[in-house]
Amino acid sequence: MIALGSDHGGYGLKQEIMEHLKEKGVEYKDYGCYEEKSCDYPVYAREVANAIISGECDKGILICGTGIGISIAANKIKGIRAALCHDTFSAQATREHNDANILAMGARVVGPGLALKITDTFLETEFSNDERHIRRINLIEE
Ligand code: RB5
Repeated sequence: MIALGSDHGGYGLKQEIMEHLKEKGVEYKDYGCYEEKSCDYPVYAREVANAIISGECDKGILICGTGIGISIAANKIKGIRAALCHDTFSAQATREHNDANILAMGARVVGPGLALKITDTFLETEFSNDERHIRRINLIEE
């Protein structure tokens, strides 16, 4: 199950991502926001982060205007590794190396076509399980 969240700046792209996941048969849950009215990105970052930490969802996608605020907020929560990615190379690398559990994007930075490719890459790439990457992730958690 994929947890989705955005502020008003990411609302439109989140709708496109939900449509895309539906077409692919990927299960998701929308944690808001539910309209384009101005709202506060830390609220939705926390909702999605908590859904992952509780085990309700496996991974998350967070979107705001830049992707910066919402990823900073998510990374405050222990156990969250939110990666801000605007290219597919980074989306693949952060899954393989960092075992990132949240993909963050900026809807004012990437177009929907690229955002969907980044989403697919992030969701379809497994963690490498390499000893050196496990060691480094554990060092983050200390
Ligand atoms: C909202 O205007 C904007 O600040 C927000 O979407 C995000 O870009 C913050 O980092």
